[in-house]
Amino acid sequence: MDNIKIQIVEDEALIALNMKGKIEGYQGFMVTAMAASGEDAIVAAERDRPDIVLMDIVLRGSMDGIEAAKEIKDRFGIPVIYLTAYSDDKIIEKAELTEPLGYLLKPCNCREMIVTIKMAMYKHKMDEYRKKAEDAERLRQEEKLLIEQAKLSAMGEMLRSISHNWRQPLNTLGLIVQDIEDAYQFGEINTEYLADFVKNAMTEINAMSETVSGYRNLFKPDKEKKPFEVIGAVNGVLDFLHGQIRSLSVDAKVIHSGIDALYVTGYLNEFRQVILNLMFNSMDAIVERRKALSHATIGSITIDIARRESMVMLKIIDDGGGVPEKLANRIFEPYFTTREQGKGVGVGLYVSKVLVENQMGGRLYFENVENGATFYVMFPETAV
Ligand SMILES: Nc1ncnc2c1ncn2[C@@H]1O[C@H](COP(=O)(O)OP(=O)(O)OP(=O)(O)O)[C@@H](O)[C@H]1O
Ligand SMILES: [Mg+2]
Repeated sequence: MDNIKIQIVEDEALIALNMKGKIEGYQGFMVTAMAASGEDAIVAAERDRPDIVLMDIVLRGSMDGIEAAKEIKDRFGIPVIYLTAYSDDKIIEKAELTEPLGYLLKPCNCREMIVTIKMAMYKHKMDEYRKKAEDAERLRQEEKLLIEQAKLSAMGEMLRSISHNWRQPLNTLGLIVQDIEDAYQFGEINTEYLADFVKNAMTEINAMSETVSGYRNLFKPDKEKKPFEVIGAVNGVLDFLHGQIRSLSVDAKVIHSGIDALYVTGYLNEFRQVILNLMFNSMDAIVERRKALSHATIGSITIDIARRESMVMLKIIDDGGGVPEKLANRIFEPYFTTREQGKGVGVGLYVSKVLVENQMGGRLYFENVENGATFYVMFPETAV
């Protein structure tokens, strides 16, 4: 184990020397510096980064030990043990505010000093562990919140998709219903007409109902990791989006040359959510670029699925103009968005990255290509 590094702050040079001698008489302890003023103590602490500072409360000069201790603790996170005399009772109240790890009465008893230092070091380590654990927990909570927000934003998009998918069957249903009035007037209603009417109406209603149950199945969270087939999963997401894809006249296709099935292990619905986020982003980029260029030929998204050594690699290639170079390293940050107020939260890519990399052991990154962006999603292949 490394030596415990101690800095002494004491304006009586003889006392300081005496303490140094005692401390270094013990194995495993070393004194990094003896400072005589608060200012010197801060300089030395910054330079030597001792594990602990033994600080005389009453110091000559403009800064007392309490002020120096506070600064050393705040700036460098180094804990302090105060050296006090009996007469310092009042001052100790003030010293308490700096949360010292202990007090030593002057003149110091050697054994007591070493024990106090050891106890203080132990307490300091424990405090640090606790702080680290709390930080980790806070991060976890923040991540959870973001994932929740992303789900909400995905739900909004979902509703948009459902209403797109419903538009056509709703129109058809409207026509079927209106026809019955004409049919009545022209005396066309008979058993055959009624059977047809019910059959046609039910076809549309079933299509609408399938959209909703499809949505529920597609996005309910998975409880456990399982092997799933990637090409089918991607096609499922595109089927789900077909209403939107058609109404935007986007040319969306999946290519997987020479391969019929590729398996990876993970959460299927989270994978779907990632593909969905990337598709939404590409569609948004395409809409924006069309607005800017009034260029009708823009609008293709290709999902290329392939095997690369032992990895499954998906490329989502669009022609939406790509990400401006100066923003490229920010798009995966939470809440980073270039969309108009109210249109994007900026969590899609962040959450996708967490899902792919932290939950499923994969990789998600992007590069700009001619006319657009390509997002890469990679997972280790599962042999089945
Ligand atoms: N395919 C893409 N082409 C061009 N820019 C993109 C593309 N995908 C993402 N971006 C940029 O990255 C930003 C962040 O994307 P992200 O999905 O995290 O958030 P968002 O789409 O803005 O909002 P949200 O997904 O929360 O609704 C976008 O605002 C956009 O500027
Ligand atoms: Mg997005």
